[in-house]
Amino acid sequence: MTIQNILTKYQVRQENLLRAIKEIQKEFGSIDKTAIDEIARYFKMKPAAVFSAASFYDQISTKGKFNMVVKICDGANCNTKKSTRVIEEIERFFGQKIDDSFNFKVKIQRESCFGFCAQGPIMVVNDVMYEKVTPERVDDILRGYTDFQ
Ligand code: FES
Repeated sequence: MTIQNILTKYQVRQENLLRAIKEIQKEFGSIDKTAIDEIARYFKMKPAAVFSAASFYDQISTKGKFNMVVKICDGANCNTKKSTRVIEEIERFFGQKIDDSFNFKVKIQRESCFGFCAQGPIMVVNDVMYEKVTPERVDDILRGYTDFQ
């Protein structure tokens, strides 16, 4: 079964998008960039719109396609410790906005609380947690994971 085989079962109508995505996810285990591109072509949509639809539903795994996931807490406690400034620095570093997720290399994700409020602001890069992150530390932390200068 190919992605195309699955897609051709569905009429090109917006209401069939999620059904097709779910079936592809079931068949292949996750929705990767190739799948997103094929789905977008088939449904005559922008890949970003397909990605948004896929990632909106928790049961659809869009994991695995990001080389890097940066989660930053913007909960009330971290926010009083300038998480907003940390977020701005992360966005500047990558040249992309938080939650703006159509970049398969990096996803920057806002979190509401990691449960380590006293150590905030908390940033998690892939599975490594950083505590008391200041805007000044962002470059040093992220440079350790990337080729970006
Ligand atoms: S508010 Fe950030 S860890 Fe709780």
